[in-house]
Amino acid sequence: MKNVYLDHAATSPIHPEVMQEMIPYLTEHFGNPSSIHQYGRRARKVLDDARQTVASSIGASRNDIIFTSGGTESDNMAILGAASALKEKGKHVITTQVEHHAVLHTFHELEKRGFDVTYLPVDQYGRISIEQLKNELREDTILVSIMYGNNETGTLQDIQTIGSVLDERDIFFHTDAVQAFGLIPIQVDELKIDLLSASGHKINSPKGTGFLYVRESVPFLPQGFGGEQERKRRAGTENVAGIAALNKAVTISQAERKDRYDQYVNYRNRMKQIWDEQGISYVQNGSAEFFLPHILNVSFTEVSTEVMLVNLDLAGIAASSGSACTAGSVEPSHVLTAMFGTDERTKSSVRFSFGLGNTIEDIEYAATETAKIVKRLTK
Ligand SMILES: Cc1ncc(COP(=O)(O)O)c(C=O)c1O
Repeated sequence: MKNVYLDHAATSPIHPEVMQEMIPYLTEHFGNPSSIHQYGRRARKVLDDARQTVASSIGASRNDIIFTSGGTESDNMAILGAASALKEKGKHVITTQVEHHAVLHTFHELEKRGFDVTYLPVDQYGRISIEQLKNELREDTILVSIMYGNNETGTLQDIQTIGSVLDERDIFFHTDAVQAFGLIPIQVDELKIDLLSASGHKINSPKGTGFLYVRESVPFLPQGFGGEQERKRRAGTENVAGIAALNKAVTISQAERKDRYDQYVNYRNRMKQIWDEQGISYVQNGSAEFFLPHILNVSFTEVSTEVMLVNLDLAGIAASSGSACTAGSVEPSHVLTAMFGTDERTKSSVRFSFGLGNTIEDIEYAATETAKIVKRLTK
């Protein structure tokens, strides 16, 4: 039996060159970047180089990059850091109903701290309405957090328009770009993004790596206390080997971005083509126009998510029900519920996500096996 990993949106394998890059910093070059001796200076250079790479990849200034442990920490830090610094100015914040829990649960925490939170609904494709966003803005709105691309459906939001609407009104804009970074070209100045979260393990860097971009003009309070690392914004000795790895992973993903994009579009089209040829019934969840290429979410309406995932696993195919946090649970996803209410398709959705190591043969195998399973279970 073939094993095919199609869950790259949950986490991705480490690129071999990334692995090579980090090893010296786990062995001989183990210094602390805050030390003044040669060991420390060597480690410090790793941070400087990586900061430059990461900043360039989104058109930002080096000083505006904070290395973190990943997407969750970046989201928490962005939202709590900005909201707590701005609370004298206003207590109204806005997000969407389809954010990752790293964002949604942070907004629940803000509610507990006395903030007024608006959760924007989405249409059946998973997009917010710009008109509705405009209507919800108030005198006391201080921060808006809207994800770049959804981790379950791949739907992209209109970040360009959102950025300019908020910029005109001087409201700070955070975007969770954990799934988009590395596949979509992002320039923070053009898009008027003030804070941006990204995660290393989605782009072939190890788990425990990531960054947060915070524009210099954003009032921001640290959320952890200790040393003066990361310009006093994130205390704690830096993950030097992880940051060396992140540098390499960002470099590779930027160089290969266009090729990867085209490859994944080809994969998703091929999967759907095989299902169409096999005549099985399925519906695609998400936008056919504004999407992340590596995420394909479909409902095989007559087969429940759990049954489908177990059968796929038996056939060697690793897929998911959506976000890693909700995988394995019987609760329909909050993202699909926001899009479809209680519709049957929320109970039969499967997310296939593509990445490093996948070949067209893998995709054809997975699509053919999926069709066989659907036919067997709906006979
Ligand atoms: C959109 C989005 N935000 C945040 C996260 C959390 O990132 P991490 O796993 O690096 O903490 C994820 C992970 O699945 C994600 O997909």
